[in-house]
Amino acid sequence: MTPVAPLRLAGVGQEYGTGRAAVRALDGIDLDLRPGELLAVMGPSGSGKSSLLAIAGGLEVPTEGRVEVDGVDIIALDPAERATIRRRSIGYVFQNYNLIPSLSAVENAEMPLQLDGASPRAARAAALAALDEVHAADLAGRFPEELSGGQQQLVAIARALVGRRAIILADEPTGALDSVTGEQVMIALRDHIDAGAAGILVTHEARFAAWADRTVFLRDGRIVDRSRDDSIADLLTRP
Ligand SMILES: Nc1ncnc2c1ncn2[C@@H]1O[C@H](COP(=O)(O)OP(=O)(O)OP(=O)(O)O)[C@@H](O)[C@H]1O
Ligand SMILES: [Mg+2]
Repeated sequence: MTPVAPLRLAGVGQEYGTGRAAVRALDGIDLDLRPGELLAVMGPSGSGKSSLLAIAGGLEVPTEGRVEVDGVDIIALDPAERATIRRRSIGYVFQNYNLIPSLSAVENAEMPLQLDGASPRAARAAALAALDEVHAADLAGRFPEELSGGQQQLVAIARALVGRRAIILADEPTGALDSVTGEQVMIALRDHIDAGAAGILVTHEARFAAWADRTVFLRDGRIVDRSRDDSIADLLTRP
């Protein structure tokens, strides 16, 4: 029996807007992730990386195609059921962090577990452990407005790692970090992957993509075939 992929995208396309204003953000995306596999997604600005991640994470419904989490077609679910799968199975790092301003760092990090009905004590312990994994335990009591961009990013990563969920989707998680902190985050992410999670890492930087098991390149919403494209080096070096 073939094991069920933790995450599968098949024929995914996404169009924003309608008529002449329509933007084709993604086209014919097929991806399969195995447990214990980290996939890096690279590509120029506007190539569809964040759209791909939002669809993979059930945050957006694509115009076409299927998205399966553990064999379940999440597009066919109603929004409440989709939200439950998202909370239980998917840790998501937003490109713009999306921390809740009225909650402290540790309260932000424990949010997914709180929403899923964990006991306050268990949620707090897991959130502190997740902050510690990204070397941000000392930020626990601070509020987002008291944190630098990089510190907010660390809290956002802790929130994605909390509770050791099966899928981790990270949109430029090292974008605001210096190289030492970026490495620390990659160590924590890699540790979760090696423990059996599946992950997608969107990054502009080849040195972070090097932590992944494989890399796909997006251009104009399509996965570029590495073997036939001479301009991969060009994609890698563009901001
Ligand atoms: N909500 C939206 N409404 C309309 N157009 C959108 C929306 N989200 C994304 N787009 C468009 O879809 C395309 C892909 O955007 P996306 O944000 O996925 O790119 P990206 O690769 O993540 O870029 P970056 O590297 O700058 O983060 C772009 O042309 C963008 O303008
Ligand atoms: Mg993006």
